[in-house]
Amino acid sequence: MTQPISTPLLRVYMQIFKAVTAALPINWPKEFRGTGSTEQLLQHIVSSGNPKVLLVSDQNLLDVGVVQPIQTKLQELGCETKLFSEITPDPPMQQIEHGVNTLHEFGAVAVLAVGGGSVIDAAKLIAARALNTKPVQKMTGLFKVTKGTLPLYVIPTTAGTGSEVTIAAVVSDTQAQRKLAVIDHRLMPSAMALDANIMLGLPPAITAATGMDALTHAVEAYISRNATSTTSEQSLTAAQAILSNLPAAFENGKDTEARQAMAEASMFAGKAFTIAGVGYVHAIAHNLGARYHIPHGLANAMVMPYVLSASISHCSKRLAELARTCGVSDDKDDMKAGLAFIDHISELNHTFNIPLKIEQLKREDIPAIAKAARQEARFTYAVPRYFSQQEMCSLLELMLP
Ligand SMILES: NC(=O)c1ccc[n+]([C@@H]2O[C@H](COP(=O)([O-])OP(=O)(O)OC[C@H]3O[C@@H](n4cnc5c(N)ncnc54)[C@H](O)[C@@H]3O)[C@@H](O)[C@H]2O)c1
Ligand SMILES: [Fe+2]
Repeated sequence: MTQPISTPLLRVYMQIFKAVTAALPINWPKEFRGTGSTEQLLQHIVSSGNPKVLLVSDQNLLDVGVVQPIQTKLQELGCETKLFSEITPDPPMQQIEHGVNTLHEFGAVAVLAVGGGSVIDAAKLIAARALNTKPVQKMTGLFKVTKGTLPLYVIPTTAGTGSEVTIAAVVSDTQAQRKLAVIDHRLMPSAMALDANIMLGLPPAITAATGMDALTHAVEAYISRNATSTTSEQSLTAAQAILSNLPAAFENGKDTEARQAMAEASMFAGKAFTIAGVGYVHAIAHNLGARYHIPHGLANAMVMPYVLSASISHCSKRLAELARTCGVSDDKDDMKAGLAFIDHISELNHTFNIPLKIEQLKREDIPAIAKAARQEARFTYAVPRYFSQQEMCSLLELMLP
């Protein structure tokens, strides 16, 4: 199989991208960690001088009773709050506009997200739209949130996206069946709480899918050619913690220790991919999500073994290091250890009842998905090897039911 002609050019561009990323003035958020850290964050919000806060969440989190105690506590601390709970998974752009209108009507001076990646990303964009007059559509791409955001606080309720420490927000263009990313260091939240107590009611299937999203971040950041020594360490820490704790959190949702370890692992993986980027697993998963509404983590989990198998000739050493650090294999042969790591991911998927094939995938959609995934990865992800259109189509064909 031949490499596409543009690969050397892409490599040079990605080197420049790496230098630009390293120079970004990233302000990592203030961290409150551990059971009970939610209350510490709420006190911090109030003591930072935020009298009126827009609380962004979703209906499901209201139904399961996660949001109300947080709102009540904020009010007890003397903060006026307004709840905006219209966010749905993979939020469409219109929800951001509704959120901004609610924010202005209420006069909020800060935004608090209580939710998974969908809520956090929507909250990031609401906080950005509050200061930037242009619509979200015009902020997609790199560094267009020129006026920054209102102070943004985050309490993740899933351990997966790492969005509490990323400079990205993903939004859906439902008409074009595309997921679009707004990427800007000014989207970084001011502070966040990683509190296992908030995650105890997360159902097993969502626990597994979101945890596999975090694993994908760790792995894709580790095999990225833009990995640094810091991101590599963060990826290894995250991958090791996920492989040891995700099965326990899946088995027993009330296992506070496993939940806390997952929350922190997801954060480390988020930090790693903020600098090193992700790769083709995400590029394909975003398109499967936009086209077939497959949840983000689930799509990543299904796609990951295929992409890693097709890339291993260019990243066996890195996959072998992951395998050895995580105790999956101590084989000295990189290829054998790397393959053992991929097998382990497939076994985890099996344990979590995550299908081997993608039921929704249609043969006639493959060329368009391949094109869009390649376009997303080009000039954005420093993948171990770039696939041609034909290689990408062949890869997707393996995933057909
Ligand atoms: N910004 C980033 O850096 C980044 C990174 C990866 C993914 N994403 C995006 O994040 C989104 C996915 O986020 P997600 O995987 O966290 O899922 P999600 O936010 O879409 O939530 C999935 C479901 O889980 C429910 N849920 C969440 N927490 C719960 C809890 N504690 N108890 C019970 N139910 C709960 C939600 O109500 C929802 O129905 C996608 O749009 C994806 O593209 C963003
Ligand atoms: Fe992800």
